[in-house]
Amino acid sequence: MTSAAMTGAAALLSVKDVSNRYIIRDRGGLGKKEIKPVLDRVNLEIQAGEICGLVGESGCGKTTLGRCVLGLIEYTGEITVDGIRQGSRGRNSAAKRREMAKKIQAVFQNPASSLNPVKKAGWLLEEPLRIHRAAGRAERERRVDEVLELVGLDSAYKRRGIDELSAGQKQRICIGCALMLRPKLIIADEPVSALDVSVGAQILNLFRDLHEQLNLSLLFISHNLNLVYYLCDKIAVMHGGRIVEQGPAERVYSSPEHGYTRKLLLALGEDDGQG
Ligand SMILES: Nc1ncnc2c1ncn2[C@@H]1O[C@H](COP(=O)(O)OP(=O)(O)OP(=O)(O)O)[C@@H](O)[C@H]1O
Ligand SMILES: [Mg+2]
Repeated sequence: MTSAAMTGAAALLSVKDVSNRYIIRDRGGLGKKEIKPVLDRVNLEIQAGEICGLVGESGCGKTTLGRCVLGLIEYTGEITVDGIRQGSRGRNSAAKRREMAKKIQAVFQNPASSLNPVKKAGWLLEEPLRIHRAAGRAERERRVDEVLELVGLDSAYKRRGIDELSAGQKQRICIGCALMLRPKLIIADEPVSALDVSVGAQILNLFRDLHEQLNLSLLFISHNLNLVYYLCDKIAVMHGGRIVEQGPAERVYSSPEHGYTRKLLLALGEDDGQG
């Protein structure tokens, strides 16, 4: 249990009764629409400095929950990040979006598609600071060097084009971009599933180091309970848009209470892949 949890301090991330549905419009011109409910009254808390893993099979709603937390899609319920209420898509003012960007950032599965291929790594790392007018030129350069070191790359990498980087180095640059505004929480959505096993393991260790050095909190989304157990303090198991079980990683992994968690653990014996 983290010290925040023991003292009862307010959670860094609080998700209360969050539900959502997608509206799929018929593109055939008949004006029909299909309503697809995904999240069903999800409750989740992450304390400052905690790594929470979110596991569940494909299509259960993990990415959707991440997108709600980032304020990218519509939902009902309440999400607060470091005491500030997150709005649904379009419901945050520009000032609130700027404030939120300093608290919460995201890293996605495919680093190649997250990075503009015609830019140099240094330019991409500076971009969040330029957009948020968070630092002058000299300070931006200093922060780029600092972040490159944090993600395990030397400062020469800022002059590299994106297509001159390996997949693992690209993901390090994505993580670096997410760190530039010094957020408290990162949503990492399957950040190693597009990487080779050994490269993925290095990225997992990088997350662990960043967590220790910066007291960074993580919502680590994966369908692989093994990876989540390795990295996380806490595990939340999602099934059909609901969190069916959550608790300390050790407890959920060694004595799962919910039948679906037991099924996931059994499946691990058959599929030892990365994800
Ligand atoms: N933009 C969208 N419009 C309509 N339906 C969507 C949209 N995005 C996701 N869905 C549907 O919502 C459900 C949950 O999708 P989501 O991407 O959150 O799952 P996931 O748990 O992240 O799966 P995976 O492990 O494959 O990434 C799926 O049935 C998916 O088809
Ligand atoms: Mg997903």
